[in-house]
Amino acid sequence: MSLQENFLWGGASAANQCEGGIYEDGRGLANVDVCPAGKDRQDVITGRRKMLRMDKEHVYPAAEAVDFYHHFREDIALLAEMGFRVYRMSIAWTRIFPRGDEEEPNEAGLRFYEEVFRECRMHGIQPLVTICHFDCPVGLIEKYGGWRNRKMIDFYLRLCRTLFTRYKEYVVYWLNFNEINMILHAPFMGAGLCFEEGENEEAVKYQAAHHELVAGALAVKLAHEINPENKVGCMFAAGSAYPCTCRPEDVWEALLTDQENYFFVDVQARGYYPSYAKSRLSRQGIWPVMAEGDEEILQENPVDFISFSYYNSRCIAAPGTGGEEAEGNLFKSAKNPYLQYSEWGWPIDPLGLRITLNEVYDRYQKPLFIVENGLGAVDTPDEKGEIDDGYRIDYLREHIRAMKAAVEEDGVELMGYTTWAPIDLISAGSGEMRKRYGFVYVDKQEDGSGTFARSRKRSFYWYRKVIETNGEVL
Ligand code: BG6
Repeated sequence: MSLQENFLWGGASAANQCEGGIYEDGRGLANVDVCPAGKDRQDVITGRRKMLRMDKEHVYPAAEAVDFYHHFREDIALLAEMGFRVYRMSIAWTRIFPRGDEEEPNEAGLRFYEEVFRECRMHGIQPLVTICHFDCPVGLIEKYGGWRNRKMIDFYLRLCRTLFTRYKEYVVYWLNFNEINMILHAPFMGAGLCFEEGENEEAVKYQAAHHELVAGALAVKLAHEINPENKVGCMFAAGSAYPCTCRPEDVWEALLTDQENYFFVDVQARGYYPSYAKSRLSRQGIWPVMAEGDEEILQENPVDFISFSYYNSRCIAAPGTGGEEAEGNLFKSAKNPYLQYSEWGWPIDPLGLRITLNEVYDRYQKPLFIVENGLGAVDTPDEKGEIDDGYRIDYLREHIRAMKAAVEEDGVELMGYTTWAPIDLISAGSGEMRKRYGFVYVDKQEDGSGTFARSRKRSFYWYRKVIETNGEVL
């Protein structure tokens, strides 16, 4: 089996990391807007430091980002030039419902995305829309405490109904939440959670997770009712946990790490809380409060497909025995001595992608979609202003090879592959601009200077060829 002919090649972005324009056309303030760049970012995105307004001491990169808000036509034309078949993007909730609890949506916000979708259609690009990519209206955090409150389910569904109805003729592929498991690692960014002193943070996180899981299932139901053609996927931050050694204690710890991650997909794809979660959460006294009917909602509305981001595998040791630590997509693990590392200290493990694809497919037997994979690196233009990003090409080539092997040799059913992120944007984890992922360079610098001019890197031409040959020429 080789990659299907209509394999969805493309790239992925998120509203808060590329759009900017946060004061335009009635948009409201979101959690992602008030996450500063710099040393305080970590405390804010994890909910340890409550910051619901911008102050003068910090820089807030989402405010301008790379100004997709005013450059989207040019950007989508560049994606089309690379032959994109799909563009994964997200909706800024606060463009549609500025405070989050309004009865009626903001027409200007709806119009903006309609224009984006029209542009995609004109170029023959299929949108894949993440309904919620880390964003939550500040209005809902102030009034209701974010996803810890069950009322969030209704506000989220109002957003879903508005989107499914208004964009019925443009969009059939949807993701309900980006990296839903991030709620455990970056709870303010993932779910608008800030913690009060002394409260049981784990209990709050799993309660909020339950609300998101129910909301996600109801979104699947609604999407199917509004348009039977709609396909809704879940999305999680993947990357298998390897035991640091074959010591059973390490193997056990790695299993626990995987279960913590798969918990979300177990519920969203199989439709029920897995027994390990039932048992552990109850024993820890943090079993979430459920409303009558919740279990049926989960059971009756599993997702149509499973999507994930893959940047790296993790190496796990029994507590207190791991040695040196390595960075990674928002959570750390032990250093794997067999791997190379990116400039940001993230392990580079293409075979790990094949392993993850096999594990996830074996576990759920549903179509998969890789919706993020890429290398964050510093790109330096040469004297002619050109960027020779061979390191990015190497990274992507090896990951695509591993992906193809999973499909062609292991029989994994895969719908598509979207790289993170085709056009440079702001980093979610660090808020930096200099951590670039794109095939297209954006002249926006760390100090805020720059013209926003777009230019093609060497990887642009390389990826165009990859798509043109359906992954045959790498
Ligand atoms: C994922 C997110 O966590 O990884 C993206 O879905 C994010 O929003 C990406 O940008 C890469 O992480 P970072 O921290 O390098 O931006």
